[in-house]
Amino acid sequence: MVINPKDQKYNENYKLMIGSILPRPIAFVSTVSTEGHFNLAPFSFFTGVTSDPPTVLFCPTRQPNEGQPKDTLINIRETGEFVINIVTEDISEPMNDCATNFPYGVDEFKESGLTAVPAHVVKAPMVKESPIHFECKLNQIIEIGEAKPGGGFIVIGEIVLFHIADDLYKNGRIDIDGLKPVGRLAGAEYTKIGERFSLVRKTYIKK
Ligand SMILES: Cc1cc2nc3c(=O)[nH]c(=O)nc-3n(C[C@H](O)[C@H](O)[C@H](O)COP(=O)(O)O)c2cc1C
Repeated sequence: MVINPKDQKYNENYKLMIGSILPRPIAFVSTVSTEGHFNLAPFSFFTGVTSDPPTVLFCPTRQPNEGQPKDTLINIRETGEFVINIVTEDISEPMNDCATNFPYGVDEFKESGLTAVPAHVVKAPMVKESPIHFECKLNQIIEIGEAKPGGGFIVIGEIVLFHIADDLYKNGRIDIDGLKPVGRLAGAEYTKIGERFSLVRKTYIKK
């Protein structure tokens, strides 16, 4: 099967992407508006970029109906700050509640029952129930596509402070078994860390 994305609707291309790019980590992004309203939403088009400076990106697309930017993007444009909270098995259900298409200004912390606690550097709050938070300052926003559904944005942020739960921090590394992260698959499906295997990286030595 060979498919030219130009022959399909954007949501058909989306289905091929989310069924192929997986499992995806989830950035649970907390922000605050200039009026002080908290916002919290999950984004699985999320990855690291560089470690010097420590930089991450996630991708809020435009809303499916009229193509408006999502509340998270509006707040980050206004404030230049956000927090990425790592999603664990324990908070997967409230995380999903935060993906509801609430009107702008609705506080998803209140809707989901999660607890907002102050960050140290940025004004955006952190999710208390998540064991890892990255306080981030905006590096840049790159717009992709047209200003209509299917288009979206790459939000690039520099991590200015890591918060790692003490019991998960082992000699500078994260205890993955203790973290119990959740990954997104396609549609309503998610995955836990399952069977693992190791591959040792080889080093080429010039002869
Ligand atoms: C696990 C999960 C991952 C998601 N990933 C994305 C994503 O990468 N990009 C996106 O635009 N929306 C994504 N969504 C949908 C947003 O979370 C949803 O549109 C949310 O209402 C946006 O909130 P906001 O308008 O408060 O920013 C995802 C939803 C879930 C449940």
